Formats: sequence, C-alpha cells, structure tokens
Amino acid sequence: MCMEGVPPQGMSTGGVPLCRTADVPPNGMRACAQAGKEYLVTQQDGVFHVFQHKCPHRGGPLSKGRLQDGVVTCPWHSSKFDVRTGKLVTGPKVGPEVPFVRKFIALFVRNLREYPSVVNDGMLYLQNP
Ligand code: FES
Repeated sequence: MCMEGVPPQGMSTGGVPLCRTADVPPNGMRACAQAGKEYLVTQQDGVFHVFQHKCPHRGGPLSKGRLQDGVVTCPWHSSKFDVRTGKLVTGPKVGPEVPFVRKFIALFVRNLREYPSVVNDGMLYLQNP
C-alpha cells in the first residue's frame, strides 16, 4: 500500500516503474504490466495497492471484474476481495448453492498477494517485482 508522496516506512522511493497514478481512477482499478507480468492496481480512498492480477481461485482476470465499495468481484466465479487488504471476502460461486459447501470451497481460495509499491512524482513503482 502506498499513498501519493508518502513512501511506506523503511522504503526508499524508486523501484521499477509500473504505471502513472493518473491512469488509475479514484476508487477504481486497472491492469498494468511490467516485464510481461500483469498486476492489478487499485486506488481506494487515495491509497494505491498493487495485487496479483489473476484470481487465486482459477486465474480469472480481476481487472475485468467489478470494483464497488472497496471490493473487487472476479468476473469468472464471483469471488470477492477487499482491495485495501487483499483478503478474500466471499468465495467463488461454484458447486451446489449450499452455504456450508460454499464455505468449504472458499477454504481453498487464498487472499490476493500484494506487492510493495511506492508513489513518486506521479508514477507508481514496484519495489520487488
Ligand atoms: S477464477 Fe475468480 S472466482 Fe473463480
């Protein structure tokens, strides 16, 4: 997580450029690529986050999903992730529509991996791509 002009504690500015902050809409998201790898970049309440782009369930492209109220919904099976923390909110809608079955399936879906990033002079940089 990083905020404009405020590098996270212990981090220097710099790193590998990922995208311009102006290209990520407020409370929105987009896919950004670096060295052939795609990342999901979100801006929620003025704070930028960089996550894995592929859903940890079956690899759905998260930037093609929907982002509402700080929660991104995977376009393939509707898993939901909090874009402030990367934590799984609800699991995929697969299998029988039985609550305990859905909870069991969700046990096998990880949280989103977040990558350390920093904003400097209108650019978002990956610290450890
Ligand atoms: S691939 Fe994202 S919920 Fe299945």
